[in-house]
Amino acid sequence: MELIQWNDRLKLGIEVVDRQHERLVEIINRLNEAMTQGRGADVIGEILDELIIYTATHFSMEEKYFAQFDYADAAEHKLEHDALIEKVTAFADDLEKAQGSVRSALATELLQFLGIWWRYHMMDTDSKFVALFKERGLT
Ligand SMILES: [Fe+2]
Repeated sequence: MELIQWNDRLKLGIEVVDRQHERLVEIINRLNEAMTQGRGADVIGEILDELIIYTATHFSMEEKYFAQFDYADAAEHKLEHDALIEKVTAFADDLEKAQGSVRSALATELLQFLGIWWRYHMMDTDSKFVALFKERGLT
């Protein structure tokens, strides 16, 4: 089962953002699948690395527009981005060291966290910049 279902409720109506969000959801769902199937640490580590790298790429893109459009909530929004990268990186480090039941507990915790964080971030935090981005010509 997909951890996050990509649907219209998650779409902001700005193509460049939605396309990247959809890809992030796809990576998270792939991570969920690998973890629930109990696949090897190397596979999971690889997907987690991909997720961290793509998340950073995506946040840079949003933040580039924040600067360009003088977004009033930029600082607050960036704090959420930085906190996520820090948290997921810490999880990845812990997972790498953990084994057995500790490892599966960590994996479950990480996935629950990612599911909640991303749904909230897209539908609440990101939705706040939509009007400005559209006003500045992003479609
Ligand atoms: Fe964001």
